[in-house]
Formats: sequence, C-alpha cells, structure tokens
Amino acid sequence: MRLLLQARTDFLSIWRASDYTETISQTRILGRQIIVVNSPDLIRQVVVKRHENFERKSPQMRRALEFLLGDGLFISDGDTWKQRRPLVADIVHAKRVPSFGPVMENTTSELVERWNRMPDGAEVNALHEMAGLTAEIIARSVFGNQLGDGSAAAVTEGFTSYQSLVDSINIGYFLGFDDGLPVLRTPSLRRSVKRIHATIDKVVEDHLAGRGDHNSMVELLIRRQQRNPELKLDLVALRNEAATIFMAGHETTAATLTWTWYLLSKAGWVEKAVHDEIARVCGDRTPTIDDVPQLEWCRAVIEETLRLYPPVPILARQTREADMIGDVAAEPGSLVLIVPWLLHRTESLFQDPHHFHPERFTEGRRPTPYSFIPFASGPRVCPGLHFGLTEAILCLAIIAQRYRVRVSQRHAVEPICRLTLRPKNGLPVTLHKREAPSHGAG
Ligand code: HEM
Repeated sequence: MRLLLQARTDFLSIWRASDYTETISQTRILGRQIIVVNSPDLIRQVVVKRHENFERKSPQMRRALEFLLGDGLFISDGDTWKQRRPLVADIVHAKRVPSFGPVMENTTSELVERWNRMPDGAEVNALHEMAGLTAEIIARSVFGNQLGDGSAAAVTEGFTSYQSLVDSINIGYFLGFDDGLPVLRTPSLRRSVKRIHATIDKVVEDHLAGRGDHNSMVELLIRRQQRNPELKLDLVALRNEAATIFMAGHETTAATLTWTWYLLSKAGWVEKAVHDEIARVCGDRTPTIDDVPQLEWCRAVIEETLRLYPPVPILARQTREADMIGDVAAEPGSLVLIVPWLLHRTESLFQDPHHFHPERFTEGRRPTPYSFIPFASGPRVCPGLHFGLTEAILCLAIIAQRYRVRVSQRHAVEPICRLTLRPKNGLPVTLHKREAPSHGAG
C-alpha cells in the first residue's frame, strides 16, 4: 500500500536496482497480482504472440480517460478496437505525414519568430514552449487551420486541466473491482470535458457541412465514414477518435523535445554534431520535411532521448484469461506492466545504460528487437510513430539552427510520471541566438 501511494506521487522512485535487469517479477497489492515483464522475449510474447489476451488497457488508464475519450482507440479493445484501429492508423500513417509537413514547418518557424522578438538570453520554460508548439501542430493537423486561436486554446487548456484532475491510480481496482471505479466527475472535471467536447463537435459539424479544412484529419475520418458507412461513425465516435489523436499526438512529442533540450545542453559535442549536420544538409535555408531522411544525427538524438526518457514510461495491460508468461502464472484480471523506463536502462541490453550516446543509433546501428519500445510494439504499436518521429526531428532541426537552449544551472531536474514522463515543474531554460548559418557559426 505504501508503494501504491508512493507511485501516485513519484512512479520512478519505486524501482530497485534488481528491477533494471532482464527478468520477470510479480508482487501483490491488496491481493491483486502485478507482473513486471522486463525481457525482450517475454515482452514479445505479451504484445505480439498473446496480444489478444493482453490487448486490454489497465483499468486505471481506461477509467482515467473514458469520460474524455469515450470509446476512442487509445482505451478501446475487442471489436471496437479491431474495427477502428485500421481507420485511425490509416489517417496518421507514414504515407500521409508529408502532407502535414507544412503545418510542422510553419508552426515551428512561428515559434522561432516569437523567440526572435525576445532579448538574447531570455528565460522560458522549455516544457511549456514545447507543449504549446506540439499542441498547435496537432490541433492544426487534426482540426484544420480554421480552429482559431480561441478554440485551439480552449481545447488545449481543457486537456491540460482534465489531466491534472484525473488520478492515474484507481484504488477501486486494488479493492477488488476488475474494471476499477469511475473517476469522480467533479464540477471542474465536467466543465473541462464539456468545453473540449463542444469545441470538437463544432469542428466536426463544420466539416460535415462542407465548411472544414480539406487537409485535416477530421476530414479524412469523415470521408472514410462516407466510403464505408458500415463503420457507423456518428458524431460522438468522430469526436472520440479526433480527441484521441489530439491527446495521444502532442504531449508525448512535447516531452521528447523537452528532454532533448535538457540532454543537448549537457552534451556539447553532440550539440555540435547536430549543428554541423544541419549546416551541411540545409545550409542557410530553414529545414523542411524533405530534409528529415538526411538528418541522421538529429534522428539519433531523438531516439536516444526516447530511450533515456520514454514519454510513455509504462505500458499497463490487464490479463483477460489465465496465461503463462515465462514461468509466471498470470491470473485473469491481473495487471501486466512493461516498463520502457526499466527496459531501456537495462545494462545487458544497453552498454552504459544511463549515459547519453546517440551514436547507438547512427550508421544503421539498432538495439536488440523488443529492447527499445518507446512507441510500444505489436498490433497496438503507436500508429503515430512516423508522425511523431518526423515532427520531433523537424522541430529540433528548425529550432537548433537558430538557438542554443541552456538549462538553468540552479534548477535540479527531476523526472515525474503522470500520463507522460516529464521534468517536474517543467524545464527552465535560457535561449541563446546562434549566428546566421551563412556566417559559419558552430
Ligand atoms: C514521440 C511521440 C510519441 C510517442 C513516444 C508515442 C508513444 C505511444 C505509445 C507507447 C503508445 C501505446 C500506449 C499503450 O500501449 O499503453 C501509443 C499509442 C497511440 N499513439 Fe502514440 N506516441 C507518440 C506520438 C503520437 C502521435 C504524433 C500520434 C498521432 C498523430 C499518436 C497516436 C497514438 C494513438 C492513436 C495511439 C493508440 C493506439 C492503439 O491503442 O491502438 N502518437 N503512442
């Protein structure tokens, strides 16, 4: 029980040295079986081979998000998930990512222009800056360009206050309720949800009436429904999937970029390699989505950030039927945890596991299969993987071409896990303009 309470405030502090090894372990909290799987083979068994038995999200996750997302893909399972997964995966698929390139480029350039209006050495909170940036990118991608500043802010603020209001541990589950207990719908939670739903409904209705942006993801969802009426996507289903993509598609990228600034500010030689590469590939012009395949160091820095600070540091599943995972007998209803935070820092899988070495990912080097899973793996792998990776690389390149970001010396950085892993109280930084690349600034 003490562990459970501690996990509520600081999820990362509950692990022991022996947990950072290739192993499977189990424990009980109030009689509930909890299994932690930390070896590539067994992870493969859970997420691929026996996917159907472990596809169900934990009651904590389902309960925390159901009021906001309804049966949205992130928390659905069974037939609903099977029917909606190909639909959502197609909308955020790699092949569509180039069409969102201009949104990524313009939004990031707008951020750089705003920073340009600040004095050199200005202090900002990198987490807030990156959260604003990625929320704007995903809002324009999902809802189209005409959402308007007011509505975009209403959705983003609504999600932020929703997430701070819901608790990520559902005590009811540990007290014996297999599906956990509904989250208490306080008046402020209801207000947040009402505001988000009303804004998204308006966008969907506009699109249905032909007044939407033709390149938006909502438009793609609607067109799909028109082609395949058997999908039965009504207004609520369209809203749930749009809200799901919006939610899943920005906090994670914001956390990644924030940790990247933190790591780069501590590793001058990596920062130099990134600057040199941007100068070599892009010269004077602003990086675009077409440059991304050439930005090998930028990609390696993002992947190494995802290894050290996986934005989703824990993947929690609920066992459907009794099963064996290695030599552990999983009981129906038990909680199975795959913890990228532990896996990515396991010494037998990564040499110097706590050190920042982006060259692990350069020149075609790849980690052992199922040892590096920041996007999960198997049929439930993040469908926005290409979108998120491309976006993070491009944002990094556009910003790093113009700015060095320095973490305030006085600030002690402490990771905290809510729905995502981020620095507690954000990341106070100072912004330092780089000379124009044509002048050969390093
Ligand atoms: C660096 C960025 C990202 C990271 C690290 C990330 C990570 C993840 C992870 C780990 C999951 C699985 C969660 C679980 O099984 O509990 C997931 C699911 C999902 N992600 Fe991402 N994600 C990122 C960006 C995106 C983006 C940009 C989008 C959309 C444009 C997106 C859409 C989704 C959706 C819809 C799901 C649910 C899939 C399902 O349950 O079938 N993600 N993501």
